[in-house]
Amino acid sequence: NVTPVILCGGSGTRLWPLSRKSYPKQFAPLVGGGTLFQQTAQRLNGIGEGVCYGKPLVVTNSDFRFIVTEQLASLGIDPGAVLIEPSARNTAPAVLASAIYLHNQDPEAIMLVAPSDHMMPDADAFRAAVAKGIEAVKQGKLVLFGIRPDRAETGYGYLELDGEGAGGVTALKRFVEKPDAENAQKMLEDGGYLWNAGIFLFRAADIIAAFKQHAPSLVAPVEQSVNSAKPDLGFLRLAAEPWDQAQDVSIDYAIMEKASDLAVVPYDDLWSDLGGWDAVWRAMDQDDDGVAVTDRVTAIDCKNSVLRSESPQLELVGIGVEDIVAVAMNDAVLVAHKDRAQDVKLAVSALKKKA
Ligand code: GDD
Ligand code: MG
Repeated sequence: NVTPVILCGGSGTRLWPLSRKSYPKQFAPLVGGGTLFQQTAQRLNGIGEGVCYGKPLVVTNSDFRFIVTEQLASLGIDPGAVLIEPSARNTAPAVLASAIYLHNQDPEAIMLVAPSDHMMPDADAFRAAVAKGIEAVKQGKLVLFGIRPDRAETGYGYLELDGEGAGGVTALKRFVEKPDAENAQKMLEDGGYLWNAGIFLFRAADIIAAFKQHAPSLVAPVEQSVNSAKPDLGFLRLAAEPWDQAQDVSIDYAIMEKASDLAVVPYDDLWSDLGGWDAVWRAMDQDDDGVAVTDRVTAIDCKNSVLRSESPQLELVGIGVEDIVAVAMNDAVLVAHKDRAQDVKLAVSALKKKA
């Protein structure tokens, strides 16, 4: 039995204006059916490939709690628990809190930590990869999933493989989180590296032990916060006072860069972190000129662009544009060069200052 732990506390500012503070990207329809959060929950539901997935544990913040329960209810999925973080502390505290919560219930618990901002259309292929990882988990490994890199991306973690491995699982020499452009280019050319998919599989007991070893200052505040959590309308609110003492850090920096008992399952099917509009463009259906559109869009003589109308009241027309992102909402419109897609977060900070 594996418990899915779905992290959905991020704010996704690079997908403004579709992604909003009160309604971030993981809860909005982006590609495929439903939202990315719903696709994640569905991928990890039921039984498949010899792995039985238990009810998901969702970790989010207070603003999103009803969106979470509504979106799960519409799929007929019952969350095992929804943990509410008093404040966003990045992924390390969120993962540790989930591990402590699950370990309190079952000292043998195995957890699959899944972000909610990914597109992975082939659920069966993913479940097969999880099944391969289970054996390594039983030997006490922290298991990651590796994607073959096709560009020198600096926004991901890189996994240095230690040889070929057996049974689809390979030991890891080294984990490098978000390298600079030069190192990313070197690792791409070297060929012995995979991208970290951001999905983790381990025993709750093993990840707690890894925190005690590599990030000991997080353990006391997070443990106190979980152990004095208060039930509230079916949600579980982590206690704020100890939680706010916890360092703001990702699991990649806090644990994965330091731990030595890592193993990776390579994943060859389609995977995308829909982090920016350029990634959304790559993931959408495109015509022969590389133009991707939603309903209510007319594109005339356009090239390599994404044009999206996010409202039933809006018709959007593009004529003769190239390498453009255009996203129209009722109350906001983005027009940007596709090469500047990562800078959309700058627009969000600029707008915040104006407000
Ligand atoms: N509950 C909760 N609380 N969730 C959070 C928080 C938080 O404070 N911060 C982020 N998340 C969620 C996000 O919603 C997302 O689903 C997931 O955790 C990962 O966070 P990101 O902020 O999107 O991480 P990243 O994309 O920069 O990097 C990670 O993913 C890459 C692949 O997509 C790393 O694991 C990289 O190594 C990896 O390559
Ligand atoms: Mg991400």
